[in-house]
Amino acid sequence: MRHQDGSAGDADYGRIGQSYSAYRQPDPRIAAMIADALGPAKTVLNVGAGAGSYEPRDREVTPVEPSASMRAQRPAHLAPAIDATAEHLPFADDSFDAAMASFTIHQWADLAAGLKEVRRVTRGPVVILTCDPNEVEAFWLNDYAPKVLATEARRYPSFDKVADGLGTPIERIAVPVPFDCHDGFNEAYYGRPERLLEPAARLSCSAWSFITPDEANAAVAQLAADLKSGAWDAKYGALRHQPTYLGSLYLLVSQRQG
Ligand SMILES: C[S@@+](CC[C@H](N)C(=O)[O-])C[C@H]1O[C@@H](n2cnc3c(N)ncnc32)[C@H](O)[C@@H]1O
Repeated sequence: MRHQDGSAGDADYGRIGQSYSAYRQPDPRIAAMIADALGPAKTVLNVGAGAGSYEPRDREVTPVEPSASMRAQRPAHLAPAIDATAEHLPFADDSFDAAMASFTIHQWADLAAGLKEVRRVTRGPVVILTCDPNEVEAFWLNDYAPKVLATEARRYPSFDKVADGLGTPIERIAVPVPFDCHDGFNEAYYGRPERLLEPAARLSCSAWSFITPDEANAAVAQLAADLKSGAWDAKYGALRHQPTYLGSLYLLVSQRQG
């Protein structure tokens, strides 16, 4: 199913995506890990490309993005995105040296079909930035918004499913989240909890759109109260001085077999 703006996943970016690029800037340290995993590839397919985060500037990138509101947020210096979905990629077999997909596979309507397509059109590595559903709920936000993290844990596919869909083994590389991470996913605020009090910061993490406004308000009120009383700092204050956080974020890398 596609939403009015063309969104093809389980989140409607026509509704929640307006301020996405203000809060979801690519983080240069994560970008460097992706660039490294892409290897020497000259041509790169970016599936679920959104506003262009993590697209390398020194390669020829072909972005694919079904949501019109996300395509409209792509800066002018990046290639315009093709309106298509992972499940039906309009390219011949082996068209690209490498492919990437960041924070998107959990939204695809048919994960297995999408991964098979990405593998089909890619000669070299397929590099996926995603979260391990088994580790999502270990984050402190679970004390405040358990439904948000339960939603994320339910949406993110297991790494076994990703390997099955690609039809290859996958290398899993833990991605340390920097303290001042430029990309505002929930764990990016591990040591800056006040940022999650901003409505637009929450809206830029699509899992928040799966709970009711009352549930979100209750979670935020509790967090605000604990920040004011010092209860959050008593439990988690050490995170304010921790340079990186190893949470649920991983790079999964598949190499072509045979
Ligand atoms: C959280 S955004 C990530 C965007 C970008 N890759 C980034 O890292 O900022 C997820 C993107 O996946 C796209 N998407 C959802 N379902 C898709 C599908 N079936 N095929 C391709 N892209 C899809 C959404 O439209 C959205 O732009």
